[in-house]
Amino acid sequence: MTAEGVKLLRRAGAVFGFGLEIVDYPFGAEYHLRTKELIPDSAFAEMKQLEGILLGAIGDPRFEPGFLEFGIVGRLRFDLDLYVNLRPIRLYSEHLCPLKGKTPQDLDILVVRENTEDAYRSKPRFENRGTLDEVAAQEMVYTRKGTERIVRYAFEAASRRPRKKLTLVDKANAVRAHDLYRRVFEEVGREYPQVQRDFAFVDACCMWMVRNPEGFDTIVTTNMFGDIITDLGAVLQGGLGIAAGGNIHPGRVSVFEPIHGSAPKYKGLKKANPLAAILAAGMLLDHVGEKDAAAAVENAVVAVLPKLPSIGTDSGVPTDRIGDLVVQELR
Ligand code: IPM
Ligand code: MG
Repeated sequence: MTAEGVKLLRRAGAVFGFGLEIVDYPFGAEYHLRTKELIPDSAFAEMKQLEGILLGAIGDPRFEPGFLEFGIVGRLRFDLDLYVNLRPIRLYSEHLCPLKGKTPQDLDILVVRENTEDAYRSKPRFENRGTLDEVAAQEMVYTRKGTERIVRYAFEAASRRPRKKLTLVDKANAVRAHDLYRRVFEEVGREYPQVQRDFAFVDACCMWMVRNPEGFDTIVTTNMFGDIITDLGAVLQGGLGIAAGGNIHPGRVSVFEPIHGSAPKYKGLKKANPLAAILAAGMLLDHVGEKDAAAAVENAVVAVLPKLPSIGTDSGVPTDRIGDLVVQELR
């Protein structure tokens, strides 16, 4: 799938007239089994000099859950300080939506997920492990600086969208620490009077996303809740096969990835659909300033959808063939 994303990058360079220098990194499960390394420090230092990284799906049942994820995805997110996890939820074609009667106009949500804090960043703690008195804890920690920069990014993003509405999704009624988000949201929001402000508790947000997705424009939320609501969002778009996201630090090297995980059992069979990886490549182009090329990649994906029997795995159209079809539509 990642190869198809790279194919689109190369093609976009040819069509839109920019050069690309692509470096291949083999990191992942196989590499770790061979070398015991996840991302070697020398490669990490080199990556900091790049403009963008297209990341394939990570995860392998031969390892404990979280090992590769935190060793690779987490390392990139935290050590490159990629504080924005940007996840557009767009319905590219009505037939992909599992909800009755929803059209592309009804589902166009930009989720701005905080990407460097929350329980993700805290050490798990176990007391009396393995006994009846066991206690397990992992703290949700939010800092003023971390909250402010993500909220500000979200207001900027919302102010550039036609509807200019920003919803803060939190759980301030139960996780009282989310009061920090509330205060920062009000404070920063005063600098953006053109942006309409709204709130939703995360449980209600899930309900509204299904019942009335057209009510959302831009959403800003914590790391954990952003993780959860973007899987829901992906299903509304048609599935994880078409959902892409970016791990961004504005102005610095950033990482773009399909939201889906890996499926090692399909490796090399050409049955998987690469559209999410291709859309991630499109987001990478946007990040490096190739806005026209980025829009063209998204449009090309939309143009290919009617030609595919489905966007699930094993649609009958091989992975590289789907990439070729998107390439043909790129203009
Ligand atoms: C995601 C994934 C990751 C996350 C996992 C793999 C740790 O679910 O990118 O949404 O929870 O952030
Ligand atoms: Mg997730």
